[in-house]
Amino acid sequence: MVDINDIKNTFLHDLTSARTAGDLQNIRIKYTGKKGIITAKLKLLPTVRQEEKPAYGKLVNELKVFIQGEIDRKESQIKNLERNQKIAAEAIDITLPGKYTQPGRTHPISVVLKEVIDTFGSMGFAIEVGPEVELDYYNFEALNIPKNHPARDMQDTFYISDDVLLRTHTSPVQVRTMERSKPPLKFIAPGKVYRCDADVSHTPMFHQVEGLVVDTDISFSDLKGVLELFVHRMFKKDIPVRFRPSFFPFTEPSAEVDISCILCSGAGCRVCKGSGWLEVLGAGMVHPRVFEMVGYDPELYSGFAFGMGIERITMLKYSINDIRTFYENDIRFLRQF
Ligand code: PHE
Repeated sequence: MVDINDIKNTFLHDLTSARTAGDLQNIRIKYTGKKGIITAKLKLLPTVRQEEKPAYGKLVNELKVFIQGEIDRKESQIKNLERNQKIAAEAIDITLPGKYTQPGRTHPISVVLKEVIDTFGSMGFAIEVGPEVELDYYNFEALNIPKNHPARDMQDTFYISDDVLLRTHTSPVQVRTMERSKPPLKFIAPGKVYRCDADVSHTPMFHQVEGLVVDTDISFSDLKGVLELFVHRMFKKDIPVRFRPSFFPFTEPSAEVDISCILCSGAGCRVCKGSGWLEVLGAGMVHPRVFEMVGYDPELYSGFAFGMGIERITMLKYSINDIRTFYENDIRFLRQF
């Protein structure tokens, strides 16, 4: 009896000092395992005197049940404790301020390109596209610029082979579109173009928007009306516009369109080089040779074409003096748009 009480006391002492599931497991082995204290006591049963056997057996069994019950109780206590600790450790502080990611913005060239497209869209122009890797034929020959023609020097070309090049302007889209369709035509062709040139006003890749209108009675006054309206919508209403005679092999007559200098309002400054005018685009009446090359009858059809550099228009609109800033990806520059 005394023995049983001692076991119970040491067990209770052991149990109180148990902290982890591992401690409990050791206690379980120490008392009720195969070589445990209680198991040993039960094994002694045959040696107990006959009349004491029932009382002895009962006592040891009760202790065993008690020990198992206590261990189970403590086990669930420890498990609860461990779970609560785990939850506490994994807790997320929803009051912490979040991480701010700066949202992206539309590139200034894309902003102005879209404005140009929308302006012509509102005047009923469709959109056509062509390849950036182009045949010499479409880029030059069909535009009345034969091989060895001095006008080829105007455009420093990236050649891929004798017949293949990176288009130097969007004008080849005029030819490709006329080849596959019949008049009337009224479209713009936006896209990338390439020239072997780099300084404050030139990058090897830049963007142009071409325009072409062809029908039976298109005159120079149509060209003037459309381009004046365009310039007034893009820059500001009533800005003075002038058409200055120029030369392109694929238009005749040809003109360059200038706007009154935005910075000095025509007085003359460093930006307009004292002239009071800024060039915004090239244009002209489609040359009869170009119509012949695509199989249009130049006696029946007339048309006008124009082409502009988007970088140039963006620079004028926002008074940017170095074209390279568009492609340096300096966030401080791009953030302003
Ligand atoms: N393709 C010419 C250039 O890149 C611009 C232009 C287009 C001029 C259409 C007249 C007509 O310089």
